[in-house]
Amino acid sequence: MNPYISEGWSQRESRVLARAALRPHDPTYGPVFVRGEGSRLWDAEGRDYLDMTCGYSANNFGHAFQPLVDVATGHLRLIGHITQQSHPGRWELAEQLLSVCAYQDRGKVLFNVTGARAIETAWKAAVSSRPGRVISLGNAFHGRSIATSHLSATARAAEMVINVSEVEQLAESDFAYCACCPIGLTFPDCHVGCLDGLEAKLRRHAAEISAVFVEPALGARGYVFPPAEYMQRLRSLTSELGILLISDEVQMGLGRAGDWLLSTAQGWQADLVVLGKSLGGGLVPISAVVGRAEILDCIPPGSESETYAANPLATAIALEVIRQLRSGPWMDNGRRIGEKLRCEIAVVARDYLPRANMEGVGACAALELAHIATTRQAATEYTAQLARDCMETGLLVHRSGPLGTRIVLIPALTTNDAEVAETIARFSTAIRATPRAALD
Ligand SMILES: Cc1ncc(COP(=O)(O)O)c(C=O)c1O
Repeated sequence: MNPYISEGWSQRESRVLARAALRPHDPTYGPVFVRGEGSRLWDAEGRDYLDMTCGYSANNFGHAFQPLVDVATGHLRLIGHITQQSHPGRWELAEQLLSVCAYQDRGKVLFNVTGARAIETAWKAAVSSRPGRVISLGNAFHGRSIATSHLSATARAAEMVINVSEVEQLAESDFAYCACCPIGLTFPDCHVGCLDGLEAKLRRHAAEISAVFVEPALGARGYVFPPAEYMQRLRSLTSELGILLISDEVQMGLGRAGDWLLSTAQGWQADLVVLGKSLGGGLVPISAVVGRAEILDCIPPGSESETYAANPLATAIALEVIRQLRSGPWMDNGRRIGEKLRCEIAVVARDYLPRANMEGVGACAALELAHIATTRQAATEYTAQLARDCMETGLLVHRSGPLGTRIVLIPALTTNDAEVAETIARFSTAIRATPRAALD
């Protein structure tokens, strides 16, 4: 039962939706939304919310962004869909993606509909090019298809009783979660020592390993940004051993981390990059694998397609997304409002929670609350309550993180100063309302 919607809505929901589709654990899924504009959503009762969840970056241009709406409506009158037949948008979009992802004439592109399917495509390409096991890092999230759920090395994925062979999920201690270092070290003195175990494993078993999948920063699991040194060292190591390195930028790519790709901003290049979410402008699902031509061309001809992949409507919208990111002020604005949210929310939070830490890169703010209480459980429960109180004040945020102790704000890149100010004001009201007695 969803406690945030009326009895009537709730009964209707549970009558027709399978249990797996209900999201009672995440308070931001509570209200029933009927309209959106910019960074604002309205529920069925007419109440407004500031949307700092942004469809996990699918809505990087906010809701009902006029240039995208114009392209979509115009294109619908011209040609909406053809299945796998040729049209110029598909080639143009591939050319644009190769350019912004810096593969130019060394690269190729394969399109899919969802992020999960694109991850599977990258997986197919990797094992066709270099047979062997694939490895994923602790706490990453790569989707919810059978294969990608298994790749997402999390306790939640472990609940799935499906055995996809040849995947190895690494321990969470192999990932750089510096706010709560799993091996008790501090950056930079640690020299990213959390990578030592993985390095030993890769060196020992290099001949049996096809590829390592990474998220260059954890998205769904809490906007955790590892030091660039971690990724750079992993890149040198995999290159030395001939193992492929695949960057899942479904959430971080195309603007969220303040750049076209987080990997290149961190100073390394993947063999394959996976994109999704932002590419469809929040209007159409479209995803892509972009990367080294000789790897993608290992997938046998005709063995990878989806009915709706990169149809004329989707590519027209995606091309407008790229055009807006190239020539509009949005990347700069995203970095600017991200910085503002990080600074000002940290100031508000520390008045009540002196041990709160603010983190983030680009257009996001991740407030780490793991250290605010004497017990982890108290910190986790407080974080969940704060997220609910944010929603009560009309502010949608995510509660996530490897320990469930992070409040994450993901604004649209188009968010304006008034919306930022209102976000901070609503956060301030929420944190004042959240009881702190259990923290001592
Ligand atoms: C990093 C990452 N990879 C893959 C996916 C899966 O994308 P989709 O839900 O479109 O299948 C997600 C979705 O949240 C994601 O955040």
